[in-house]
Amino acid sequence: MTGKSFYITTPIYYPNDNLHIGHTYTTIAADVLKRFKTIQGYDTFFVTGTDEHGQKIQDSAIKAGKEPKAYVDEIVASIKDLWSKLEIDYDEFVRTTDEDHQKNAQDIFNKLKESGDIYKGTYEGYYCIPCESYWTESQLEDGMCPDCHREVEYKEEESYFFRLSDYQDRLLKYYEENPNFILPLERKNEMINNFFKDGLKDLSVTRKNLTWGVPVPGDEDHTIYVWIDALSCYLTGIGYGRDEEKFKNYWPANVHLMAKEIVRFHVIIWPALLMALGLDLPDQVFAHGWILFEDGKMSKSKGNVIYPEPIIERYGVDALKYFVLREFNFGADGSFSMEKLISRLNSDLANDLGNLVSRTTQMVSKYRDSVVPEPGEEMEVDKDLKSMAEGIRAKVEEDIENFSYNKALAHIWEFISRTNKYIDQTEPWVLAKDEEEAKRLDTVLYNLIDSIRIISQLIEPFIHHTAEEIQKQLGIKEDLKWEDASSFGLYKAGTKVERGDNLFPRLDVDKEVEALAKANKDLFEKRQAKRNKGAKEETNTITIDDFDKVELRTAKVLDCKNHPDADKLLVFQLDLGDEKRQVVSGIRKFYEPENLVGKTVVVVTNLAPVKLRGLESNGMILSAESKDGRLSLITSLEDVDPGAGVK
Ligand code: MSP
Repeated sequence: MTGKSFYITTPIYYPNDNLHIGHTYTTIAADVLKRFKTIQGYDTFFVTGTDEHGQKIQDSAIKAGKEPKAYVDEIVASIKDLWSKLEIDYDEFVRTTDEDHQKNAQDIFNKLKESGDIYKGTYEGYYCIPCESYWTESQLEDGMCPDCHREVEYKEEESYFFRLSDYQDRLLKYYEENPNFILPLERKNEMINNFFKDGLKDLSVTRKNLTWGVPVPGDEDHTIYVWIDALSCYLTGIGYGRDEEKFKNYWPANVHLMAKEIVRFHVIIWPALLMALGLDLPDQVFAHGWILFEDGKMSKSKGNVIYPEPIIERYGVDALKYFVLREFNFGADGSFSMEKLISRLNSDLANDLGNLVSRTTQMVSKYRDSVVPEPGEEMEVDKDLKSMAEGIRAKVEEDIENFSYNKALAHIWEFISRTNKYIDQTEPWVLAKDEEEAKRLDTVLYNLIDSIRIISQLIEPFIHHTAEEIQKQLGIKEDLKWEDASSFGLYKAGTKVERGDNLFPRLDVDKEVEALAKANKDLFEKRQAKRNKGAKEETNTITIDDFDKVELRTAKVLDCKNHPDADKLLVFQLDLGDEKRQVVSGIRKFYEPENLVGKTVVVVTNLAPVKLRGLESNGMILSAESKDGRLSLITSLEDVDPGAGVK
């Protein structure tokens, strides 16, 4: 142990659906970093978890016909199961629904309120439900959410605010004094250009009337908004509020890993919150790129989600880990394809590494009865191999310091290629035919085996199963020290090799791509069917009391016009007998407004009013949705009085 600690985190993921290969990317990178730092002698700690509160999760639960807690429990179990399949070696899994975490979020809120960093005010702005973010009019892009480009709704709401504006100068000073705080470096410029140029605004940190969240202590109509709740998990994970000693040992974090879309929360809001709490700031925030597909970012609606499970089942954990870290440049976006996956498994794992190990063990077994001989005198070609072997560890360490996982693996594979070339240069099969070359053959075989021993050590933090299997085949029983990876000649001559199966089979690209695509599609459909079934089962069993909560009435359309600021919306003036109401409805694509005047429609009358693009909507007009997405208004067969109850 160096006596030094190293604390790593991943984002805590939203449990609103099964995780895909993109989520595993960050988690694999964090896991490999932990293994690497542990091997280097650090006292490591790795926190991951799930971000379980908020409107979006509540809506997903309702859609699936489940209580939010029951809904997230099921998905969290599947996430933990995935991490166990991938042998992710995390130390703490924080769920934001855990009691100790909720208490921390409330304590943090109270502290910030007491210090005057949080105050109560009113929020006015455009709200995007999927992103759970408020935007000002000028931030909208074509009237849509600038992050996800979906519709927003105008809202005015009492809210608590965090005085983020007070921290602008301190944040900029911190970035300047700590040039490696935001990585990769270009993200820092993006952040400063996009968010600081108009000055930081105070941040709304609560939501009113959202029940699925941590209540604001003493003001329970409000819940703590997801980002304070979520970010404070990095403190909960190492014992904040319950184990002061542990907390002091690991805080501040050495690195928070994530993809670029949430870096702003981690380099603006999070450091400001920590400053306000009087806590040290993390050393580094690394925002990696996205794994994309030919048709853009993965999403369930596009049906292009790639799950990690079929890849693990077919090719093993190491294959998936190797591929994501080798194929993509961590800081940049990369595009995924099954062809790329299979080709890389073939070229790097089966051909380069697998062949090297199998050719070498085969030759030791054939020429020296499986016993690795003592080496003899060194020739130039041996010196060359040796000097390269001894230099790789330092390169890999430097690459990992820079979060260049792909470069680290490329450096190891350069040495694998060099070792394969050494076989071609020395031609052991020719040496074996000549008695006089026996000692030379000994040297060549020893050098090959010791090179493979070094390779096995270097790949261990990345693909530990393969490393262990190689060491088993090399007959290595003792634990190897990381430092030994840069010393040639440490393999004990006289050890017997144990030839095993090929490390990686060669795959038929076309057949595998087809089979993998099918396995992925089957899993996608199975998961969809399970969700739909859950939703149906639950919706089939609501009680009459549940149904009675919805107030349905008929209404006569007095007037209907296009919404002035939204091309999907119609604005209705309705007569409900004892009252008149304005309702905004998203059916403009299907009806001409003038054709609807005088018609009878059915309205949910006890919905809380909302503003849709600046106009109040007081209720919801019912329509039927056909399979192709066409909406058709519901009406009554006979004439009924406006305002008649619908049972
Ligand atoms: N709950 C928040 C994070 C709170 S952290 C205090 C959240 N959750 S998330 O489920 O949406 O996860 C986002 C993260 O998942 C990304 O930042 C990244 O780490 C990972 N990825 C999700 N899709 C990805 C890709 N397609 N490519 C790369 N990483 C991806 O945001």
